[in-house]
Amino acid sequence: MAKEKEEKGEKEYKLTDIPGIGPGIAVKLEASGIYDLMGLAVISPSDLAELAGVGTAVARKAIQAARGMMKLGFTDGAEFDRKRKDIIYITTGSKNFNDLLGGKGIESKSMTEAYGAFGSGKTQLGLTLAVNVQLPKDKGGANGKAVYVDTEGTFRPDRIRQIAEGIGANPEKVLKNILIARAFNSDHQILLIDKITELIKNGEPIKLVVIDSLTAHFRAEFSGRGQLADRQQRLNRYLHQLMKLAEQHNLAVYVTNQVMSNPAMMFGDPTTAIGGHIVGHASTYRIYLRRGKAGSRVAKMIDSPNLPENEAQFFVTGAGIRDEG
Ligand SMILES: Nc1ncnc2c1ncn2[C@@H]1O[C@H](COP(=O)(O)OP(=O)(O)OP(=O)(O)O)[C@@H](O)[C@H]1O
Ligand SMILES: [Mg+2]
Repeated sequence: MAKEKEEKGEKEYKLTDIPGIGPGIAVKLEASGIYDLMGLAVISPSDLAELAGVGTAVARKAIQAARGMMKLGFTDGAEFDRKRKDIIYITTGSKNFNDLLGGKGIESKSMTEAYGAFGSGKTQLGLTLAVNVQLPKDKGGANGKAVYVDTEGTFRPDRIRQIAEGIGANPEKVLKNILIARAFNSDHQILLIDKITELIKNGEPIKLVVIDSLTAHFRAEFSGRGQLADRQQRLNRYLHQLMKLAEQHNLAVYVTNQVMSNPAMMFGDPTTAIGGHIVGHASTYRIYLRRGKAGSRVAKMIDSPNLPENEAQFFVTGAGIRDEG
């Protein structure tokens, strides 16, 4: 672990590590969407002065400090490639689905979001991934453990046992390698990020974090008029933390998201993901799931930095996600 950090040459700094920024100012900055050194490094001194209520000289110094403490600038293609070499993949269990994701499944240092109607397979994919992450690397896993944040109380140990049996693994061992937390509200859900970091620092080889569902609590708690901006800001911050977790610890994040019907849409599938663009921009891979013909499911790649907008057919089976029903 220490070696990994050293290699990357990154120490994790907090806003309060910057001279001139105390806890009070840090809170103000966070409320304005600045959570880390990167946020500080790219803001202008006058904007920072206004947001933080400090003089421009102090602001300028803080920005310079932030820039100095992080490596800003270009990475050559070879170095970039080297950094990507340690990316790991977790198989979905379906070759079709893996192909949609570029061949090997969901990847580390990324966030993959699946959105779709109830029963479309979002949770089933999360459960399957939580089992498959435990496979050795040559079998499509990451030889790691999974964290499962369950906001809906839908996690079922028996279902995990069943999927584990489906890949010929010991069901009790597989269950032991999934760390489950029930998140009771959005505050709790956010707090669990720190707990996950703690687990990793204590040496737990966590290679997958599942958040099922990402948005349900946020949606329920911030449903009033005028609360949308608040909700989006908190969600944005949470997504940012998840992404950081993925990048810093080379793990995969898989989140599920509900849809709402959009009556204004006259063509195509009239459903939109909750959280809209905020979630869309934060997700590295965004997949839309729906029911297909003859009990099948269809996954569609909606947004990806490098993959075409293809579709893949798969099935939810007793053994988890598969090509055939
Ligand atoms: N053991 C099983 N064998 C076969 N199919 C199963 C099994 N368990 C669940 N399924 C299928 O998965 C569906 C449920 O999918 P899932 O729970 O992933 O939905 P979801 O997209 O998470 O929905 P929601 O929005 O309600 O959370 C069931 O309707 C069923 O078709
Ligand atoms: Mg579900």
